[in-house]
Amino acid sequence: MELCDRGKWNHSIVGRSLANDVVSASGHFLLRKGTVLTHWHLTILKNHQIDNIELQPQLESPIEEQTKQIFAFKKEISAQYNENLIEVKRLFHEAISREVPQLQEFMVPFKPLLEKVLHGPNIFLELRHIKGHDEYTYRHSINVGLMSATIGKILRLPFSDTIKLGEIGFLHDIGKMKVPLHILNKETKLTVEEFAEVKKHPSYGKDILQQMEGIDESILNGTLCHHERLDGSGYPFGLKENIPFLTQIIAVADTYDAISSERVYRQKLLPFDALDELIQEVYRGKLNGEIVFPFVEHILSGYIGHEIELDDGRRAKIVQLFKEEINRPLIELDSMFIDMRENRMLNIKEVFLYHDSIL
Ligand SMILES: [Fe+2]
Repeated sequence: MELCDRGKWNHSIVGRSLANDVVSASGHFLLRKGTVLTHWHLTILKNHQIDNIELQPQLESPIEEQTKQIFAFKKEISAQYNENLIEVKRLFHEAISREVPQLQEFMVPFKPLLEKVLHGPNIFLELRHIKGHDEYTYRHSINVGLMSATIGKILRLPFSDTIKLGEIGFLHDIGKMKVPLHILNKETKLTVEEFAEVKKHPSYGKDILQQMEGIDESILNGTLCHHERLDGSGYPFGLKENIPFLTQIIAVADTYDAISSERVYRQKLLPFDALDELIQEVYRGKLNGEIVFPFVEHILSGYIGHEIELDDGRRAKIVQLFKEEINRPLIELDSMFIDMRENRMLNIKEVFLYHDSIL
């Protein structure tokens, strides 16, 4: 339960639910417990000079609100990201319910965001803070598009390949629109039949995209093969060789976004655990180290200067990161430099978005 006083009654609490009945000073019943607040309700409360109300806890705020806060220092990105979310939902639904839109239509909202990210700041630190289970496929599509293109840039691939990676990453999971939401959002272990259905999404995706006029082979391939792994353990074909390099990049971006996001069936990993897990996939022979290592270094470079919380509650600042042991950086704690690789009693509990230069 959250006590909310008169000074905070604005659009931010519209949509929230009352935790208790509200009664006026003269004893008149005004609003019932459980009422979902509108602007009109706020006017009633103010007119009756109510000082405070009790709200039910907020489980998850709308993605649009989250991105405004998360990208508080990159406002243009926030606005474009949200516009993309609205358009992606519309286009993805249209693709399975009516006619499949042409590639250019998908790219109208996505290209400006992609270009901004390619020429602008590292935004991958922020992306992992956006939550929302029902919206997962949409934001995952945007994220993987942006990450895949960024990897292309980091690897200094030709610009045309970088843009192509953005397109493939953006569309790679469109086949999930044909997988029932109750399977995608299931909190417990999938049955054999349910997992078999999930594994069809690359083929569903290829079927959808094939309906686009003049669709590029690399987009079809990336969509169909993004779950193939270099050791042959992937699906749908269990390919070991002949996985195109661009598709291998999509696999890296897809894996990183999946393990660094919160999902219905598990909490998200700390950012460094997620990067470490990505590296382990290289050692397991599944992902390509030539792609993973430069990507990890790129993301790590964004964390220098960020604040962390240690598991004893103290706050420190990241000074240097080591990719051999990502979770044990050199930190500044109480005006002292501590190498966590040598002080193994300390552990990181949380990594914050805050950076010295923006505080
Ligand atoms: Fe997928």
